[in-house]
Amino acid sequence: PRTIVIDTDPGQDDAVAILLALASPELDVAGITTVAGNVPLPHTTANAIRILDLAERADIAVHVGADRPLVARAPVTGAHVHGPTGLDGSDLPAPSRAPASTDALGFLARTLRERDPGSVTLVVLGPMTNSANLFTRAPDAFSRIRDIVWMGGACFEGGNITPSAEFNVYVDPEAADIVLRAGIPLTMVPLDVTHQCLTTPARLRRFAELGNRAGQVVAGMLGFSERFDLAKYGGSGAPLHDPCTIAWLLRPDLFTGRECHVGIECAGTFTRGATCVDYWHVTDRPPNVFYLRNADTDGFYDLLAERIARLP
Ligand code: BDR
Ligand code: CA
Repeated sequence: PRTIVIDTDPGQDDAVAILLALASPELDVAGITTVAGNVPLPHTTANAIRILDLAERADIAVHVGADRPLVARAPVTGAHVHGPTGLDGSDLPAPSRAPASTDALGFLARTLRERDPGSVTLVVLGPMTNSANLFTRAPDAFSRIRDIVWMGGACFEGGNITPSAEFNVYVDPEAADIVLRAGIPLTMVPLDVTHQCLTTPARLRRFAELGNRAGQVVAGMLGFSERFDLAKYGGSGAPLHDPCTIAWLLRPDLFTGRECHVGIECAGTFTRGATCVDYWHVTDRPPNVFYLRNADTDGFYDLLAERIARLP
């Protein structure tokens, strides 16, 4: 199996991404690191453990990462979308254990140094703060990363937290800027893709009817975040973001995209946190990401349902 570390701010959609990874024998989850994002760090950490509890995976450790972005500013959260705990809509009990450490950077550096160079994929489901810290504080370990798969950014679809910025970039643009210029292979899964993967009523029902507890929890959580997103986007369902990263690792054939240059706008009167995507190659800036553009959404939901069904 391919070794991954999941860096995350659960968040209902982060939770579903983690469950998809845990249900997939093609992936070996070497650990989970947490970051402040959708909700403050104590909640994202507790939520990561609650999800591991649901999947009965006491063998996977959670390490606590950054509680704030690189540059000090008023905190941005997504509690208006995810509810105050980040996992509203689920009835998961309190976490069974404490995190393994409060040193996500130490865990990441150790994991990367212990294993063969180029053997660990970092899946980033929130702001890039932990990855940027790793790059600055442990560059030798960072350079051993095989690749990064990141849910973040937007181009054709516009922003979801400001008119031009996607949430994970907006929370910590300086961190994203560092990582995108770090020279590590990186796949971006932007809103352009995730806004295609709508949680229609039929898809939610399918999870509810899988007959296991994980299916119930997934249906409950996605039904909750949908309430906000439906009003916002007015479609036949809400976008589903983070699980697309894991689906890309499992089934790249479900997605299309291309290599291109992406820059991060760290200043800007209106555009702080925007991803400047040179999708049409109108500059000679060398490509630094593989930018996903479209998804086979039925294929994606078939995969997700089939995998969630394997869980307790
Ligand atoms: C991203 O922001 C969060 O709300 C989601 O968990 C996802 O990672 C979407 O913009
Ligand atoms: Ca997230």
